[in-house]
Amino acid sequence: MNLRLMSITGCLFLLGVVKAQQNIPVYLDTSRSIEERVEDALSRMTVEEKVAITHAQSKFSSAGVPRLGIPENWASDGPHGIRAEVMWDEWYGANWTNDSCIAFPALTCLAASWNPEVSYLYGKSIGEEARYRNKNILLGPGVNIYRTPLNGRNFEYMGEDPYLASVMVVPYIKGVQSNGVAACVKHYALNNQEIDRDHVNVNVDDRALYEIYLPAFKAAVQEGKAWAIMGSYNKYKGEHCCHNQYLLNDILKRDWGFDGVVVSDWGGTHDTKEAIYNGLDMEFGSWTNGLDWGASNAYDNYFLANPYLKLLKSGEVTEKELNDKVRRILRLVYRTNMDHNRPYGSFGTKEHALAGRQIAEEGIVLLKNDRNVLPVNLNKVKKILVVGENAVKKMTVGGGSSSLKAKYEVSPLAGIQSRVGKDAEVTYVQGYASPAVKEQDVKDAKVPEQEKIDYAALREEAVKAAKGADVVFVVGGLNKNDNQDCEGDDRKSLGLPYEQDELIAALSKVNPNVVVVLVTGNAVAMPWIKNVPSVVEAWYGGTEAGNAIASILFGDVNPSGKLPFTFPVKLEDNSAHALGEYPGDGENVTYKEGIFVGYRWADKQKSKPLFPFGHGLSYTTFDYGKAVADKKVISKDDQITFTVTLSNVGNRPGAETVQLYIGDKKSSLPRPVKELKGFKKVYLTAGEQKEVSFTIDKEALSFYDDTKGQWVVEPGKFEAYIGASSGDIRSTVGFELK
Ligand code: BGC
Repeated sequence: MNLRLMSITGCLFLLGVVKAQQNIPVYLDTSRSIEERVEDALSRMTVEEKVAITHAQSKFSSAGVPRLGIPENWASDGPHGIRAEVMWDEWYGANWTNDSCIAFPALTCLAASWNPEVSYLYGKSIGEEARYRNKNILLGPGVNIYRTPLNGRNFEYMGEDPYLASVMVVPYIKGVQSNGVAACVKHYALNNQEIDRDHVNVNVDDRALYEIYLPAFKAAVQEGKAWAIMGSYNKYKGEHCCHNQYLLNDILKRDWGFDGVVVSDWGGTHDTKEAIYNGLDMEFGSWTNGLDWGASNAYDNYFLANPYLKLLKSGEVTEKELNDKVRRILRLVYRTNMDHNRPYGSFGTKEHALAGRQIAEEGIVLLKNDRNVLPVNLNKVKKILVVGENAVKKMTVGGGSSSLKAKYEVSPLAGIQSRVGKDAEVTYVQGYASPAVKEQDVKDAKVPEQEKIDYAALREEAVKAAKGADVVFVVGGLNKNDNQDCEGDDRKSLGLPYEQDELIAALSKVNPNVVVVLVTGNAVAMPWIKNVPSVVEAWYGGTEAGNAIASILFGDVNPSGKLPFTFPVKLEDNSAHALGEYPGDGENVTYKEGIFVGYRWADKQKSKPLFPFGHGLSYTTFDYGKAVADKKVISKDDQITFTVTLSNVGNRPGAETVQLYIGDKKSSLPRPVKELKGFKKVYLTAGEQKEVSFTIDKEALSFYDDTKGQWVVEPGKFEAYIGASSGDIRSTVGFELK
């Protein structure tokens, strides 16, 4: 071909490309902005197509627009791993063989890491698993505040403090969404108990609402830029939270500028008109033909399906609200399934398992360690006894919607055995047992037959074995059975179930080296605490749980987790219970304690918890210097910096989370003694020291004045408390706001 011919062909080719591009409809043109594409897609959709995308078409999916090539949405629980596939219209498992995921530690464990970088790793990893499985909405993370230790779902949340939960939730969301998968933050809002969750009306004052219960959601929306949020089951101001004028239209969409999708909790929609007008965008999981329970393939009868269409067709409602819902849903689809540049994800990988292990190792909390019984030194300890059902029980299964089909799960016993190898003898006895439960996700599952549990005999066997052991690990706690850490109901008491208190007490009588390893997502009472030298809170650790626990017990990893919630001595030390405001009268629950939740209440009552918020020990020792402030007096627009020198004066490397609390000495409305306003996890080698600084501004000094309906900051004297936990303040420095 001569040169001339080549250039003519080239021109023709280019013209062709330009022409082809011109023919690309705007909604498919990747060079256009998402908003332009959304508007174009919207303008091409029929009213039936619009209504079709606002509600579920199966248990976990909603329709796309097949005529336009706009894909479906597929959601998955969340928040600790990607749930196994269920049937199209049934809750039981679909028995796929390629859906076994990596189970990550429960969110309480993540919160206990006090490490935002680890939270990003969590989000990125679980997002990759979701992406690989072609899920574009991950149903998590959960940030409902820990109001009572009885809440069956606390393990899915990030503790009692709004600041900690806010800082920890943001990187999780960013990590998930970096995969082109929407995080769906849940359960918005005030779903702080499981009892009566589908109808209880929560009465809470505006101060507690804005200062305690909303900040983590606000951070998720404004800083995390979450693409979806899930309404909760309960009511607020008499309206179900899935279609709630105040929470959804006024606060979330108007005040916070949320541009994503409000998804109903499964079965949380109750009324078509409320759903149309009060901020719901997508309806999932309604049980029904719109009225009663259990009709199958009822999707056309969902509140936002045919009943909605009927109202539109009759002219009783206009398309205004519908268009807003559809815009939001399309925006989510463009951010996820229609983002051609998003990564492909990965699933069940070693990297994810190791990420999970790292998160677990950073979250495990050493609660007590007298006589340095931990870490166990295998040069000296030759006979190890492991006791307890939780040493062998699968903990990735159960608990409700967060239950997982994990690719594998290393039990605490397996983790200990593999770490110990031939260096010592490891014996296991059960010590206690839990009643048999129905298998989850299995069609027509029945409760397996089980002989009556003879607790005394199990205990006796354990005591006998403990007599000759150098160290006894009691691996107990709660589990994910009903009334333990499980969705749908709450715990019945703060105590350990299945006669574990008796077991631990009996073991501690015959062996001085009893180490209690708790596997829970909640605080428990410890009547035996004085009789055992060491206690570890291991949480639900996921796929690599046992390896993470072993690495802590034998000192390969120096523990660095800190409690994300208070462990009260007894239930009545918790404000909701002290004031008798739990679980309400079946219709209403009133949060009489207001802002005094968790350590805010303990401080107010000057009571000493069993273990305070923020508590966690290390195998090394950290010394805090005297905290200094860079200013003594500040004005409203100033920042102020506090600095403290932290030294590792022990003989092994370790990490300490230095915590900053602020207290307002005098204010027009009652305020907590102190509130968390900063924290930093600092890694120090043996002998090393570092300066740790916190800079705050007026936001950290302000409170929500419900008489004015706004955040205010009042001049006066403040105190900055720097310490190792809310109960262990090492240095205090005063300052004044002019
Ligand atoms: C739970 C949600 C969950 C949904 C789907 C509901 O019962 O409250 O957290 O995402 O089910 O499984």
